[in-house]
Amino acid sequence: MQADIKKTTEIKNEKDLEGYDGYVFGCPTYHRDMTAGMKTFLFVAEKLNLVGKMGGAFGSYTHSGESAPMVFDTMQYVFKMDMVDLGPLSLKEAIIDTTDGTRACQDYGKAIGQKFTN
Ligand SMILES: Cc1cc2nc3c(=O)[nH]c(=O)nc-3n(C[C@H](O)[C@H](O)[C@H](O)COP(=O)(O)O)c2cc1C
Repeated sequence: MQADIKKTTEIKNEKDLEGYDGYVFGCPTYHRDMTAGMKTFLFVAEKLNLVGKMGGAFGSYTHSGESAPMVFDTMQYVFKMDMVDLGPLSLKEAIIDTTDGTRACQDYGKAIGQKFTN
């Protein structure tokens, strides 16, 4: 299994997103919302047919953490993707650079990997 990591700013059009079995999108929460860049990116992703593709979503936050569930819901209900059972991965900023933060990210990655083998 192989994974590519791309910044949303690298995705100029839907062709830059094509050809993957699964997608994990993420951004931090600002002003109780996802970022403007993520909103623009999701309109690009909408142009691809992502129905049934494996999906996950993540985001960092300090206190309210709306972004990851918002992105997750868009992938699930608008794009109709096959979303990972763990739900969205919301990471408190303070734990990102700790062992717990690393473990949370690794566990999320593992759950996604297991979806491909099931
Ligand atoms: C202006 C501003 C607004 C923010 N608003 C929220 C918020 O509404 N809810 C929240 O949980 N975190 C909020 N945060 C915290 C960020 O989500 C958090 O610092 C995040 O880790 C930033 O990620 P980044 O460094 O990758 O941009 C805000 C941070 C800033 C600077």
